Amino acid sequence: GDVAVLVPAAGAGVRLGPGGPKALRLLGGEPLLVHAVRRVAAAPSVRTIVVAAPPSEVAAVRHLLASVAAVTVVAGGAERQESVALALAAVPAGPEIILVHDAARALAPPELFESVAAAVRAGRPAVIPVLPVVDTVKEVDAGGVVLGTVDRSALRAVQTPQGFQRAVLAAAHAGAAGALTDDAGLVEKQGIPVTCVDGHEHALKITRPFDLAVATLLLPS
Ligand code: C5P
Repeated sequence: GDVAVLVPAAGAGVRLGPGGPKALRLLGGEPLLVHAVRRVAAAPSVRTIVVAAPPSEVAAVRHLLASVAAVTVVAGGAERQESVALALAAVPAGPEIILVHDAARALAPPELFESVAAAVRAGRPAVIPVLPVVDTVKEVDAGGVVLGTVDRSALRAVQTPQGFQRAVLAAAHAGAAGALTDDAGLVEKQGIPVTCVDGHEHALKITRPFDLAVATLLLPS
């Protein structure tokens, strides 16, 4: 394998309601993070996995994942970007393709990791999996009054894993400031092209209780 996967899993997850870090919420009796790492490890190209855990949960996460896959667990930071940078710093020399995958997208299938990695391997500096936007999207003001309708055909909903040439991701995080919600956003700011590949519906982000209910229906029986 020539791929390292960083799994930021240090978020508080307040939008799921009370009950601790989101990555450790149970889905079908197992933490989201366990589902995510199992699928990462099943992708043949993956050599290295680094998880950024809530600082208070590093030992617990190591224990949790010991029977799932060979992983390095580091303490995450206050912002997602910081958690990714800390995980990247723990990747040994070797892998030249780095994927970043949110633990919250716990059911992203191994094939998705392979297709993103393949596009990077083929020479793309940055690759994101996307889905078409099915809803009509409107821009609104602070009072909820519509300002305009956005051309849906030009929009894409972005998932993870996002893939990068190692040097590209390192440079993006070295210059990072502020709270962008994805890693490709940092790369775009550097003027580097970001390429889309087909995403996967099972890579949905498990953010609210409704998503957890949907994800439960997608579990293998
Ligand atoms: O909060 P949000 O759903 O955008 O978080 C996306 C991912 O980033 C989650 O997997 C979360 O655990 C992770 N994260 C992190 N460190 C933070 C905040 C979020 O690793 N400080």
